Amino acid sequence: MKMENKKIGVFIGSLRKESFSKKIATALIELAPEELELEEVDLYDLEMFNQDFDDEGNPAASWTRFRKQVAKYDGVLFITPEYNRSIPALLKNALDVGSRPYGKNVWSGKPGAVVSVSPGAMGAFGANHHLRQVLAFLNVPTMAQPEAYVGFASSLFDENGILENQKTREFLESFMAEYTAWVNQILKK
Ligand code: FNR
Repeated sequence: MKMENKKIGVFIGSLRKESFSKKIATALIELAPEELELEEVDLYDLEMFNQDFDDEGNPAASWTRFRKQVAKYDGVLFITPEYNRSIPALLKNALDVGSRPYGKNVWSGKPGAVVSVSPGAMGAFGANHHLRQVLAFLNVPTMAQPEAYVGFASSLFDENGILENQKTREFLESFMAEYTAWVNQILKK
């Protein structure tokens, strides 16, 4: 690892084995510039947030682990499907857990970006913008442009789940180059 590498947490809003979002995340990791060290964050066992546990000084072990993990990243990249025109509960729970206890928001100040993914035509626009709303409140400086709405996701991959659509590959590659510039601008390094 070079000294100037930036560690980026990758948060995926789906646990599905054949998730399109996960496959896009894999492609983004492959296509990213070398100076970004991207790491998928497992949300599988993150317990549902309940403020009582924090108030009683007894947070779930999975929350403490998650908060420590997010805190060490230089930036945060979100790949989200759309559930009922919003983000899946899995992702919202992760955002909520990381935002508390009050005053200890681990997301704050980390340069972010959003990629939304759907087999539908609108590329999960609704989820993309609900997520941006939450990130604004969490003080995550989120890259405004380029936006990334990956639509018709079921037609983009080969039988091994590899992104084979060339236009999408090129777009995601340029998206990651722009995100790298955004990370450097926000961190001023
Ligand atoms: C969906 N799906 C969906 N798609 C969409 O474009 N807009 C939507 O509002 C919804 N709503 C929705 C709700 C629920 C509960 C489910 C389970 C699904 C379809 C969704 O895009 C599709 O299942 C994707 O394959 C989910 O993403 P992953 O798991 O492939 O990453």
